[in-house]
Amino acid sequence: MSKRIRQLLLLIEIMASDDELKDIYPISRRRTKAIKKVTDFYEVHRSTIPDIYIRRLGLGTDKFDDLLERFFQDRDKTLFQLLSQHGDAEDQAAIQSLIRDLTGPKIKLAPSILSADFSRLGEQVAEVTKAGADYIHIDVMDGHFVPQINIGAPVVAAIRHWTNLPLDVHLMIEAPERQINQFADAGADIITVHIETCPHIHRVVQTIKELGIKAGVSLNPGTPIDTLKEVLSSLDLVLVMSVNPGFGGQTFIEDTLDKITRLRVELDRRSLATELEVDGGINAETAPRVVGVGARVLVAGSAVFHSGQTVKEALAKIRASLS
Ligand code: DX5
Ligand code: ZN
Repeated sequence: MSKRIRQLLLLIEIMASDDELKDIYPISRRRTKAIKKVTDFYEVHRSTIPDIYIRRLGLGTDKFDDLLERFFQDRDKTLFQLLSQHGDAEDQAAIQSLIRDLTGPKIKLAPSILSADFSRLGEQVAEVTKAGADYIHIDVMDGHFVPQINIGAPVVAAIRHWTNLPLDVHLMIEAPERQINQFADAGADIITVHIETCPHIHRVVQTIKELGIKAGVSLNPGTPIDTLKEVLSSLDLVLVMSVNPGFGGQTFIEDTLDKITRLRVELDRRSLATELEVDGGINAETAPRVVGVGARVLVAGSAVFHSGQTVKEALAKIRASLS
């Protein structure tokens, strides 16, 4: 991205959400202060943000609030149109990739707390929330369907106090229908069951949805997508396992790419908005590959919590790999 675009985006963001500035009116005053912050941040002279952009973007006027609404909500291309007309060659190339990012599907990141430090679970959940996660992925294991036993509904209820993000609860348990009410009461927003544990999958999905919760179904690497065919249109989410469930830190199974491709084709063919989530071995190398074939929600445990970097840096690295 060119420096100019970075500066303009930062300027818009500061004007919209900087705690010290966001309520300052008239907007021209806010703009002056925001420009100062941007130029200080980049250690550049004021002239690097040309007035023509500021004027045309309406950054000095009360039109700014409208602009923001369009810019963030409707993904208005004002900035890009403007830079397309007036930007230099570097801007032009950067605009193309930005437009692709902004108009392309939004990819959600769902850190899996399985790899978090359980002795300070709340703090770790707060950290990933602050770092820009989209969901908190909670793996529940029963020692039957998968070898380990880890957490139950009371822990989900505790996590609920540490984040406002949707709690994406992945039940790797036998007879999940017996637990759905408890996880719903604990504050789950999405409950995903494994097709391999549900002979009566239709009923399970209906039960979840009647509680006002999004229903997901997961497939082990060895389970074909055809097993979902009859319930696909009722699902809010399909979770494709790209490792055999049960442990964090395993290697991504390459055959999953073909499975995701076929599932994406099927969802699009039926015009379904069902989220396609992938779980297991996701990192900055595999993330763009699964997104490239149609994944929209990425679960990552080790790559977020055991990367040797901060949680914030780790999430940013995965995000950057997608652009
Ligand atoms: C595995 C779990 C995953 C796990 C992923 O059974 O469902 O959510 O935490 O861990 P990584 O990202 O380390 O493969
Ligand atoms: Zn999981």
